[in-house]
Amino acid sequence: MTSAPLIDPLLLTTAIEAVVRAGDIQLARFGRAMRVDKKGTIDLVTEVDLEVERMFRALIAERYPDHQVLAEEMGGSATVPPGPCWVFDPIDGTTNYAHGLPIFCASVALEVNGAAQVAAIFDPNRKELFTAELGGGAFLNGRPLRVSSAETLVDAMLVTGFPYDIHSRVEEIVGLFGAFVGRARAVRRLGSAAIDLCYVAAGRLDGFWEADLKPWDIAGGALIVSEAGGRVTNMAGEPFTSRGKHVLATNGALHDAMLHVIDEFRRSRAPNRTD
Ligand code: IPD
Ligand code: CA
Ligand code: CA
Repeated sequence: MTSAPLIDPLLLTTAIEAVVRAGDIQLARFGRAMRVDKKGTIDLVTEVDLEVERMFRALIAERYPDHQVLAEEMGGSATVPPGPCWVFDPIDGTTNYAHGLPIFCASVALEVNGAAQVAAIFDPNRKELFTAELGGGAFLNGRPLRVSSAETLVDAMLVTGFPYDIHSRVEEIVGLFGAFVGRARAVRRLGSAAIDLCYVAAGRLDGFWEADLKPWDIAGGALIVSEAGGRVTNMAGEPFTSRGKHVLATNGALHDAMLHVIDEFRRSRAPNRTD
């Protein structure tokens, strides 16, 4: 007797369809003149972000009319809603996209009561589709993914990103960046948190940290890293939630060393702290 699959396969099919369609729209408009607006001093939104998000909302409304959607440009529930909720970023790497730099993707996760069940991230420039199902492993274009085996920071290539309010906290953000630069083999900043996470899952990078992220930046990538054998927490080592804002995702072996660097840096900025 075969047991029924725990997760309906149509959910991952829908997630894949969404990000591949997103990639088609992104590439069709990439490098051409487009409307770009500012949501903040350095936080952009292009007309393509909006077009991709409209496509996604229509797809979910047609296929799963009772599911919730939380996506970057048109919002959604501020707290974790009960039941299924699709968490979608129409372009992760919008600043790259608006500047014609081909490092961006679309990212989606289906969360149920806040826990990701399936994830798909598609990089249309490299035609790389990263997928995962809870308990079912992570894949790149159908091939199983595994995190790296680097065991020390000096042998590691790390990656991070900068928040849109960096102008008001340069010392804090660049200070921690410097602490890792001083210990790792290399540190990169690609401009797409979802791609950063996929590359940790694929063993191309060994660890990723970033403060001040949104659920749509990390919900999909965090599942892909953990299903590839990595470890994902917040930057204090506490359990990951996509609403938790800051994230540390590693190959597992480097996790404690990275937490130590973060903790040491925080203590150096607030020497009287005792926690
Ligand atoms: C941004 C990217 C970037 C990260 C920012 C995110 P967006 O997402 O993931 O790498 O550093 O914190 O907001 O705005 O391009 O969707
Ligand atoms: Ca994003
Ligand atoms: Ca975005």
